[in-house]
Amino acid sequence: MNTVAVVGTQWGDEGKGKIVDLLAADAEIVVRFQGGNNAAHTLVIEGEKFILRLVPSGALNRSTTCVLGGGMVVNPFALIEEIQNLKKRGVDLEGRLKVSFDAHLVMPYHIAIDRARESHLGKRAIGTTGFGIGPTYEDKMSRQGLRFDDLIDWASFKDKLERNIKEKNLYLKAVLKTRPIDGKVLLAELQKLRRRLLPYLSDTSAYVARATVDGKKILFEGAHGTMLDIDYGTYPFVTSSNCIASAVYAGGGVPPGKLDAVLGISKAYTTRVGAGPFPTEIHGALGDSLREEGAEFGSATGRPRRIGWFDAALARYAIRVNGLWGLALTKLDVLTGIDPLKICVGYKIGKDSFDTMPPGRNALAKAKPVYEEIAGWHEKPDAARTIDELPANARRYVERLAELCGVQIAMIGVGASRDATIVLKNPFQEV
Ligand code: GDP
Ligand code: IMO
Ligand code: MG
Repeated sequence: MNTVAVVGTQWGDEGKGKIVDLLAADAEIVVRFQGGNNAAHTLVIEGEKFILRLVPSGALNRSTTCVLGGGMVVNPFALIEEIQNLKKRGVDLEGRLKVSFDAHLVMPYHIAIDRARESHLGKRAIGTTGFGIGPTYEDKMSRQGLRFDDLIDWASFKDKLERNIKEKNLYLKAVLKTRPIDGKVLLAELQKLRRRLLPYLSDTSAYVARATVDGKKILFEGAHGTMLDIDYGTYPFVTSSNCIASAVYAGGGVPPGKLDAVLGISKAYTTRVGAGPFPTEIHGALGDSLREEGAEFGSATGRPRRIGWFDAALARYAIRVNGLWGLALTKLDVLTGIDPLKICVGYKIGKDSFDTMPPGRNALAKAKPVYEEIAGWHEKPDAARTIDELPANARRYVERLAELCGVQIAMIGVGASRDATIVLKNPFQEV
């Protein structure tokens, strides 16, 4: 198979970065197709940790071409900083990074609006990352947004930006009762930054479409997760982009029908950062110890992640909406020592039973999980590189999840580092 997408099947942070980095060894091109620096994808390579926010997680494979697709919203200051930081650590993106003309620019007023709105919402806040993602997508949809394409003609860019600043500053002051942004400073900074951004600009959708025709191996890296998708997630506690696999077509430039496989990433349990329904959430000491064991603190914001049992009902939903070919199950090692383990096999709402997402996303807040218990294991699986090397009960757990979800398990994560993975099937090496 030549074109493979990786998507999160839960509420983000499933370990997509690690799996993308691993698969990128077989790919010529790695494409981000939605979201922005609200993503934080962690790679651990020979003990060294990298957190990638905008640049695709395939970047550490030195020969890959990295694409920021048209469906993204990109903070240009954060992008240049990330490129510089990677360069300092020996990862040079010169000549192999392409940024779509169509990607939208996240501006400081988007960030100010995002943060002020969240603070006004108080207890009803969504718990956004505060990086201006929602307001940038709003401007895209209302056709006020600024795109990388606009940077080419400075005079016209300046005019559009000035009009935006004027309007946003009015809104910031009069409605959100917060400080306006300094338009003069922003214009001066962008004029300088522009020269550094222009060399990366590219017609990425033409590039990706050509590469599919040429039979190149392309990896599409999803950010966030199915349950954070603007349409299919737990609205309004979601992000502002489509993060399911079909977003690859609009945001990545691959023509419909040209995606060979979608690999879903799921933790062996569940986490969520930010507010919103979470049926299998574990409160108290067990949740706290899993959080510590799994280092479940947001890579983007440092916030503690909420912890829950594996939810097979949600997994079935993610399998359907993404058309999953297989699942990579990460962080199996973190469950060591918890005995018995629980798996959510469905929900009850009043007298009604559901084996997948109940109709109408609001219903999830009322869903009571139905659990089955399964024996845990006590021997660390970290050194296992084949399924036979797993503790017997860890293997049974994985097999039970596959059976409940009705999907093949393609990979199993047993540690944070690149090599701590059992690869059962690599989509690039399958027909
Ligand atoms: P992403 O946003 O989906 O890329 O995931 P994050 O990087 O935000 O969070 C996943 C965390 O789990 C990171 O700290 C990874 O280094 C770590 N990780 C990924 N896979 C495994 C695994 O199999 N075992 C353990 N212990 N950690 C893992
Ligand atoms: P990766 O790619 C986990 C969550 C935020 C918040 C909601 C809206 O690392 O898996 P936003 O700033 O996007 O408007 O916030 O979405 N969120 C994520 N949670 N991992 C992510 O990305 C996330 N991206 C957004 O916490 O609840
Ligand atoms: Mg993350």
